Amino acid sequence: MESLIVDHPLAAARLTTMRDKTTDNAGFRAALSDLTQMLIYEALAGAPRADVVIDTPLTAHTGSRLASPPLLVPVLRAGLGMVEQAHAMVPEAHVGFVGLARDEETAQPVPYLESLPEDLSGRPVFVLDPMLATGGSMLHTIELLVARNATDITAVCVVAAPEGVAALKESGHPCRLVVAAVDNGLNEVNYIVPGLGDAGDRQFGPR
Ligand code: PRP
Ligand code: URA
Repeated sequence: MESLIVDHPLAAARLTTMRDKTTDNAGFRAALSDLTQMLIYEALAGAPRADVVIDTPLTAHTGSRLASPPLLVPVLRAGLGMVEQAHAMVPEAHVGFVGLARDEETAQPVPYLESLPEDLSGRPVFVLDPMLATGGSMLHTIELLVARNATDITAVCVVAAPEGVAALKESGHPCRLVVAAVDNGLNEVNYIVPGLGDAGDRQFGPR
């Protein structure tokens, strides 16, 4: 599986703000939004372009646009904090939604929402979720997409645990990972360490 770690001083600064336990909900959301812009920019760096013929005020010119804008799929709740900025970067993108809540005893994802186009053949898909911990939530989402014939899936995350990266690799699904940091590992209750805590709670307050 292809992985891209977006290690840029501006990305690292936003991530540090998100990790800091004294950052309030509003500050956390703002840093996540800024970081999402950088992750999406990097995730689309090699994307195919289509020619567009336009007229500048001076002459005819062949410019370009994205040949295939990705379907954006935020995983609720925490992925909601990424979708507005991702959509601002790719305004022509369509958006699907998946809602999952991890059972804190078993760490298994419990689905509560699935709103996706029926056929994703030939369409790139960007799954937006700040946290890749055990990988259970991302794998569940990828399985929903593969069942709809998706073959070009990018997981756009902020922090990953090596366990989650390994789970994606071992799944053999057609997936690429774009992430700001791969942390040390999971603790005994499957939280990423050093991590940033519960990304949903830190944006929206506790459930
Ligand atoms: C968090 C996070 C991921 C999941 C990652 O969501 O946003 O979706 O946990 O953990 P995993 O890799 O072990 O599956 P959570 O289920 O806490 O829901 P929330 O976004 O509503 O807080
Ligand atoms: N979900 C989170 O929000 N944070 C973690 O560290 C693990 C799963």
